Amino acid sequence: MFTDCSSSTTSRLIHLNSLNGAFLPRPCFGQLSLRTTASTWRCTLSIRSSSSPSAIVINGKAEAKNIRDDIKIEVSRMKESIGVVPGLAVILVGKNKESATYVRNKKKACDSVGIKSFEVHLAEDSSEEEVLKSVSGFNDDPSVHGILVQLPLPSHMDEQSILNAVSIEKDVDGFHPLNIGGLAMRGREPLFLPCTPKGCIELLHRYKIDIIGKRAVVLGRSNIVGMPAALLLQREDATVTIIHSRTINPEEITRQADIIIAAVGQPNMVRGSWIKPGAVVIDVGIKRVEDPSAAHGYRWVGDVCYEEASKVASAITPVPGGVGPMTIAMLLSNTFTSAKRFHNFQ
Ligand code: GUN
Repeated sequence: MFTDCSSSTTSRLIHLNSLNGAFLPRPCFGQLSLRTTASTWRCTLSIRSSSSPSAIVINGKAEAKNIRDDIKIEVSRMKESIGVVPGLAVILVGKNKESATYVRNKKKACDSVGIKSFEVHLAEDSSEEEVLKSVSGFNDDPSVHGILVQLPLPSHMDEQSILNAVSIEKDVDGFHPLNIGGLAMRGREPLFLPCTPKGCIELLHRYKIDIIGKRAVVLGRSNIVGMPAALLLQREDATVTIIHSRTINPEEITRQADIIIAAVGQPNMVRGSWIKPGAVVIDVGIKRVEDPSAAHGYRWVGDVCYEEASKVASAITPVPGGVGPMTIAMLLSNTFTSAKRFHNFQ
């Protein structure tokens, strides 16, 4: 299952392709033929020659390393000149394996640049008050400059009241309503930008992809990625459309986009036929899917059918190695920015 794009979950969004000086638009090759089965869409790519164009691969892993290297230098300069070490506190509740992996990776990344990490791991059946107590402790701790409550939280907790409790000056996730409000309003500046959308835009900037005046489509409207990504693109002067589960004709709308950010968590949902030749594709999705032919019996799959999309797009992020490492790099960047702000360090 999911060893290619032919058995994706496209059917959930059944109604669901210019660019800029950076890349030349790609000609449109091969039509896709779609044939539906009871529960899946099947896709057969018409035969291409081996000279089919392929997109530039946006290397998030390499860019994230560059960013970490810069932060490491700056963190050590801060320590040497004012004796301050930036600190990030992570609160993990429950035993969601993916969350535990993310938290482990965040800690490793902090260690790699010299940011001190603090971690509280609470049991699945902890009370909301226990989480609020941890948040409050970190709000009051001067050695902590950033606080992250790993999401999702167990269903018995009120995510909203917990996120509201994080001091906005330490809200390195950028999820506090005052930070999101600052992102949404013209003339306001949020203290922090949410890490995944910030990482997506950073990749566009680093690859010199024009955003101003471009048509951008964001697939997904989650508080963590889709919604703030759309707000950020709008701040960058793109013309933005959000596609969600109730959107009629998502495929047709997506095909008009110069820039696509896919953040729906549906493996291989965005097919090559959805993409305008020459568009730039940023794939935020990452799901582990079984694949007996893979070395470990599974592989990571994004929201975009990479084999197809990379033949149509001018640039595309891979999964893994695209947006994921950038998210963590942006978290380190936000934490360092916070420490600089607290200590008025230039
Ligand atoms: N869960 C998945 N992504 C994120 C993120 O960026 N921040 C937090 N706090 N939780 C998440």
